[in-house]
Amino acid sequence: MILSTENLTLSFGGLVAVEDLSIQIDENELVGLIGPNGAGKTTVFNLLTGVYPPTSGSFTFLNEKIEKKNTYQLVRQGIARTFQNIRLFKNMSILNNVLSALNFNMHYSIGGGMFRLPSYWREEKKAVEEALELLKIFQLDEYASWAAGALPYGKQRKLEIARAMATNPKLLLLDEPAAGMNPIETEELMETIELLRKQFPISILLIEHDMKLVLGVCERLFVMDHGRLIAQGNPKEVVNHPQVIRAYLGEEEEDDLC
Ligand SMILES: Nc1ncnc2c1ncn2[C@@H]1O[C@H](COP(=O)(O)OP(=O)(O)OP(=O)(O)O)[C@@H](O)[C@H]1O
Ligand SMILES: [Mg+2]
Repeated sequence: MILSTENLTLSFGGLVAVEDLSIQIDENELVGLIGPNGAGKTTVFNLLTGVYPPTSGSFTFLNEKIEKKNTYQLVRQGIARTFQNIRLFKNMSILNNVLSALNFNMHYSIGGGMFRLPSYWREEKKAVEEALELLKIFQLDEYASWAAGALPYGKQRKLEIARAMATNPKLLLLDEPAAGMNPIETEELMETIELLRKQFPISILLIEHDMKLVLGVCERLFVMDHGRLIAQGNPKEVVNHPQVIRAYLGEEEEDDLC
């Protein structure tokens, strides 16, 4: 097991966004996290990446119980994420976007960096090679010098995943990577995810509303509603679970009322 959460809970004032969540993810597993809008999915990612400390409960990552760690420490330990809304340095080159993440793992001293000593250039050259290699896996190497913002939307999403991978994660958290994609881009994303799993020994937790993608790639699903886990297991069985159907239908009824 790579990750387990133990009664993880986060309240915002009176609202319990995540309540008593206890889930487990195995090594090399690709698990989906689904549920209607406002279910608490992104909040789970915010807890697992140290954006918020839990109100109660904890999680264990690679056999270490984690109660209070910040984002930087958790990235170093091997948890990386992408965001529901793209967060790239849009005016920066694609290469530099990936390099900004690789810098997490560079080993020159501050003095070496300030005075541009040989150790700095050695590390820098290695980092550029690594970044280009990563970009190649994502078929983005030919655009390396482009500004990130100049890429079509689907490729920007891919670049975000490449940047997350640059920190060398053991657990990758993807927050609605297919949101706003056309069917061709979604298909390409599915292939990228499959490729990722072949090339890297990682576990992936995937938040997604696109059921074709979810059922296409996930080995197991967690379903949340109103902050709680309401079902988990085999994807095809889970999506036909009466409580899951009710959670999604309830959302539509609410929408109809608006
Ligand atoms: N920083 C915050 N302060 C107050 N309430 C918040 C905060 N972040 C999230 N919430 C609330 O917590 C609940 C869960 O939000 P969350 O963003 O985790 O949902 P989600 O499942 O990711 O939804 P979506 O599918 O729409 O992205 C919502 O009611 C949301 O309004
Ligand atoms: Mg969300």
